[in-house]
Amino acid sequence: LPVPSVQALVAATGGDDVPPRYLRPDAAAEAVTGDGDGEAQIPIIDHRRLLLELDHGGEESARLHRACQDWGFFQLVNHSVPDDVVESMKANIQQFFQLPAETKKRFAQEEGQLEGYGQLFVVSDDQKLDWADMLFLYAQPPERRKTRFWPDQPATFRSTLDRYSGALKDVSDSLLATMAKNLGLKRETIAEKCTRGMQSFRMNYYPPCAQAEKVIGLSPHSDANLLTLVLQVNHVQGLQIKRNGSWLPVKPVPGAFIVNIGDMLEVFTNGRYRSIEHRAVVDPKEERLSVAAFHFPDMDAMIGPLEELTAHEDDAYKTLDLESFMKIFFATKLEGKSFLDRMKLN
Ligand code: SIN
Ligand code: FE2
Repeated sequence: LPVPSVQALVAATGGDDVPPRYLRPDAAAEAVTGDGDGEAQIPIIDHRRLLLELDHGGEESARLHRACQDWGFFQLVNHSVPDDVVESMKANIQQFFQLPAETKKRFAQEEGQLEGYGQLFVVSDDQKLDWADMLFLYAQPPERRKTRFWPDQPATFRSTLDRYSGALKDVSDSLLATMAKNLGLKRETIAEKCTRGMQSFRMNYYPPCAQAEKVIGLSPHSDANLLTLVLQVNHVQGLQIKRNGSWLPVKPVPGAFIVNIGDMLEVFTNGRYRSIEHRAVVDPKEERLSVAAFHFPDMDAMIGPLEELTAHEDDAYKTLDLESFMKIFFATKLEGKSFLDRMKLN
């Protein structure tokens, strides 16, 4: 079901009128953990140290393991993605959303398709709407790219995303290799399910909202994929994770990626690593942008608890091929972890 552009709505109304379909005061009333100085933040992991330890394990690898078990979220600093690639990605996506509506529409989603410029899926007419627009693109493996959805304005967009995509795939593969080691798996166990691993991008644009405390930028959900790397584009915060029953705002470290465990990694690890519910809120005065990179196994991979981990325990989740897994994911209205609950065996 088609949904209007929130950015266009704000431009047309000056942003004072918020249509009822966006208002969710109930969601706004949910507890947010205050940002007192003593508040625990998600762990910070140093990628360079992880790489130095890769063959023998060490303190940083152990910290990564705990972050995956206890938090499902961490910030990755000292990563291998060059600064100029990150800065160029930020500049390009900011410029794209500044283009006139008519220009952006050249890359609009087609009916029933997620890929392109538009909105997240809406499955029913009375469903509440998120206060955001987005650009969704597949980037890996390269033959999956539909370049007609890749903006050719700004002129450097495609070459930048191409470089950014490859660099992030490498980071994801590297993190998965350390995680496999931390789980006591042969290093190839996860890697061989990701030789042609899929990668997609959701680039989010959250306009400011006069009633920011009554709308949600991105509804609470967990990610379906293995590993997500989020780039915070400007200085406006908005990501919150569910922790001890309330929403904990994430304070992005400049230059870091915010990394989180997705449902498929929870299933692979038979629940040792958990995907965590999260959401995005919006700012009353300023726009916010983020770029989420989703990393999946190969299109033909089976998604189920890894045999090496279930020699002495029961499978806690069903085993399905990736396509069926995704079909069920998209047919389930994003609502916390309701989707993964359907994958559980009793
Ligand atoms: C997400 O990808 O779930 C959140 C991205 C954001 O921080 O806006
Ligand atoms: Fe997410």
